[in-house]
Amino acid sequence: MSQIAQQIQIRNTVFKNRIIKGAMSEALANTAGEPNHLHLGLYEAWAKGGLGCAITGNVMVDYRAKNEPGVVVLETERDLAELKQWAEIGKKYGMVQLIQLSHPGRQCPKGLNRETVAPSAVAFSPMLATTFATPRELHEDEILDIIQRFATSAAICEKAGFEGVQLHGAHGYLISEFLSPLTNKRQDQWGGSIENRTRFLLEIYKAVRAATSDHFIISVKLNSADFQKGGITEQEVISVFKAIDQAGIDLIEISGGSYEAPAMAGAKSKHIKQSTIAREAYFLDFAENIRKEVNCKLMVTGGFRTVKGMNDALESGACDFIGLARPLAVETDLTDRLIAGYDVRYAVNPIKTGIPFVDKMAIMEIIWYAAQFKAIGEGKAPNPKLSPFKVFLNYAKGNIKAIIQGKVNSRKSA
Ligand SMILES: Cc1cc2nc3c(=O)[nH]c(=O)nc-3n(C[C@H](O)[C@H](O)[C@H](O)COP(=O)(O)O)c2cc1C
Repeated sequence: MSQIAQQIQIRNTVFKNRIIKGAMSEALANTAGEPNHLHLGLYEAWAKGGLGCAITGNVMVDYRAKNEPGVVVLETERDLAELKQWAEIGKKYGMVQLIQLSHPGRQCPKGLNRETVAPSAVAFSPMLATTFATPRELHEDEILDIIQRFATSAAICEKAGFEGVQLHGAHGYLISEFLSPLTNKRQDQWGGSIENRTRFLLEIYKAVRAATSDHFIISVKLNSADFQKGGITEQEVISVFKAIDQAGIDLIEISGGSYEAPAMAGAKSKHIKQSTIAREAYFLDFAENIRKEVNCKLMVTGGFRTVKGMNDALESGACDFIGLARPLAVETDLTDRLIAGYDVRYAVNPIKTGIPFVDKMAIMEIIWYAAQFKAIGEGKAPNPKLSPFKVFLNYAKGNIKAIIQGKVNSRKSA
């Protein structure tokens, strides 16, 4: 039997296979951040396609800090009924579901929120500064409030019936901003040494664990590197992995990069080693090294495209789960096909309109994938050949003012 088809258990939850959908922001909620029938349709399509586990797109723990329009916000039990329906879909088809909880910190486009907050007031590079404002440094009472928010949201996820949560600790969002010396310049107990920079993550983990039952799965998505000069060192990353492992985390998803260096999407950077670029999955070398240091389950996401690549990664013991994102957006039945021995059907390419000023804004990735999610949510088939140009025209109709002002998300991949 293929490695990807093997069952595996975390706490008392059985995963029927090793394929996990990595988080992809759906951009399907209304401005209040409420989930709706489109989320249900989308996750049902993945469940019907044999997926072992879905990690949802990032769900905000604070309405005042949204990373993009259309994200789900989970602060209270306001949407408990819809969340219960969402969780029920997974149970119906045997697909485990983890809600990805997130605070984006400084990576919120200008104009979306009243202000942005972060560990320290570190400005973006001149190119990204057109989209992202310099954040305000968080006060200690605000840090404690955010920690509690993760716990409150996680408890609601459990009440709704989800098997667990994933803390978004990667890609330059708030938790990884605390971890990185590039974005954390604090002099107090939340900054300075790597122990201090890890404190925010550990406190969130402890608060979430305390607010949920022993059966509840807690995962975290972490960067293997910032891929930026002066970023977190490899030794420091290893110590973060070891600390969260010893604290009791169930599953770590390995990724890398941020808006400033989008390694998670396979972007070539002078800081990415040739050996990493050469492997099918971007972060497999790192996974092989960290495997020796931690006991929790590991998942690698980014770049997996062939059944052989996936089975080899599992066989080598480097990881326990295969994370797939973009391929699942255009092939909802991909898991069943992989288990039957077929590779990913469609190559993942950057989404470009061919119009330089539009492609420079890099909103295309978000709106093109969001168009696929909407179609799937409505019960239609995804369209891998969907024209980025047409998607942009549609988007431009409703957002002309924002485009002229440059107030659009320049993220390549969350
Ligand atoms: C449209 C889109 C939205 C994404 N949203 C998230 C997100 O909300 N949280 C997250 O951790 N990663 C997010 N990602 C990154 C993916 O989870 C994944 O790490 C990345 O796409 C690489 O995997 P792949 O090569 O299989 O696509 C997003 C990616 C895309 C394309």
